[in-house]
Amino acid sequence: MVTSSGIAEAPVWDLERAIGRRCKRWSTYPRDVLDLGVAEMDVSACPPVLEAVRDAVAAEAFGYPVPDAVSPVPRATTGWLRGQGLEVDESAIRIVPDVMRGIGVAIRYLTRPGSPVLVPTPTYSRFLEVVPAAGRECREIPLLIGPNGCQLDLDAIEDGLRNGAGSVLLCNPVNPLGAVLERGQLSALAGLADRFGARVIADEVHAPIRYGVPFVPYAAVSEQSRAHAVTVTSATKAWNVPGLRTAMVALTAAGDVEAWGGVRHVETSGATPLGMVATVAALEHGGPWLVDVVSTLRSRRQMVYDRLSDAGLDGISQPPDATYFAWLDLRAWDSRTPAARLLETVGVALGEGAQYGAAGAGFVRLNFATGTAQLARALDLVVEAVRRENAA
Ligand SMILES: Cc1ncc(COP(=O)(O)O)c(C=O)c1O
Repeated sequence: MVTSSGIAEAPVWDLERAIGRRCKRWSTYPRDVLDLGVAEMDVSACPPVLEAVRDAVAAEAFGYPVPDAVSPVPRATTGWLRGQGLEVDESAIRIVPDVMRGIGVAIRYLTRPGSPVLVPTPTYSRFLEVVPAAGRECREIPLLIGPNGCQLDLDAIEDGLRNGAGSVLLCNPVNPLGAVLERGQLSALAGLADRFGARVIADEVHAPIRYGVPFVPYAAVSEQSRAHAVTVTSATKAWNVPGLRTAMVALTAAGDVEAWGGVRHVETSGATPLGMVATVAALEHGGPWLVDVVSTLRSRRQMVYDRLSDAGLDGISQPPDATYFAWLDLRAWDSRTPAARLLETVGVALGEGAQYGAAGAGFVRLNFATGTAQLARALDLVVEAVRRENAA
């Protein structure tokens, strides 16, 4: 269904439309390559978001954005976070152009000067760049992945904090694993951070995309976690508008609002008026669209695991509880770069596991947020390649 203004009411999953956007996802490789690597969705835009952006374009809202204090973004963010169980005052929300900028500034200004950063891995690949870019040592702590799901290695984190690390950079839900960390784990982490006077920077950008699994924002776990957390989030993943450049930092710890006041303008500026109106529309009016999208993602997830199971390959992956990523274990291959081999042999582009930290080597990340035809074709090709490798 399309409205009189040409806006699709229900989400439409259409490859040609996605290609027509001329964004990174379908522009990196030749047309015959199926790119299920880039973390974007091939879905039509959320109508309230599109309308807000169109209105802003019609109003020629191309100037510098309004200051945080008079922007509607903090109000929309606090409402959204309240829905997730986190109470934050509007005056403690800071707007940044993107999640990684928020994290970089938090590392530089809110953690002990010079202190190394502990990073549970596999994790979003740019975490491994943002830490050195902030002038800090990045210490990877492999997640414990077993029959009980994904757990933080709390012993290793304790060791790391004892040995001088001043913060933990958490990705929850975990990109690329699609795991949601449980309250008990987060609570134990909060106890450790509190004991060692460390900070926890929590990137919770994937939280809106979950398949019925509860999620607790790190800062909402306890008074202890709230007192040292820095929460970074945005509407850009769940509502598929990363190019519009707006993200938010929620400062719940005493003194952080004042410390943020000392950050140079050039380090936090860059959010756009279009990104801000999109963010407000998404958080305040984008709920029904998101429900529809997550329901489709749930059926795409089913497709992935049905196809793997039909091929007798269910052992290589567990269905994610969140995100639109399947994390496939191809460590049995003689290659440590299976994504490069898949691209070369069957023309499917996936995320190379080693990008997500040393613990990811031999895995690949497949983004299933696409139309059924592309996904079915990509799965057939991946299954064919895995069978060929297994037979070799
Ligand atoms: C966990 C996580 N954080 C941050 C980002 C990037 O966000 P931004 O473009 O706002 O920096 C991504 C992108 O996929 C992500 O998966």
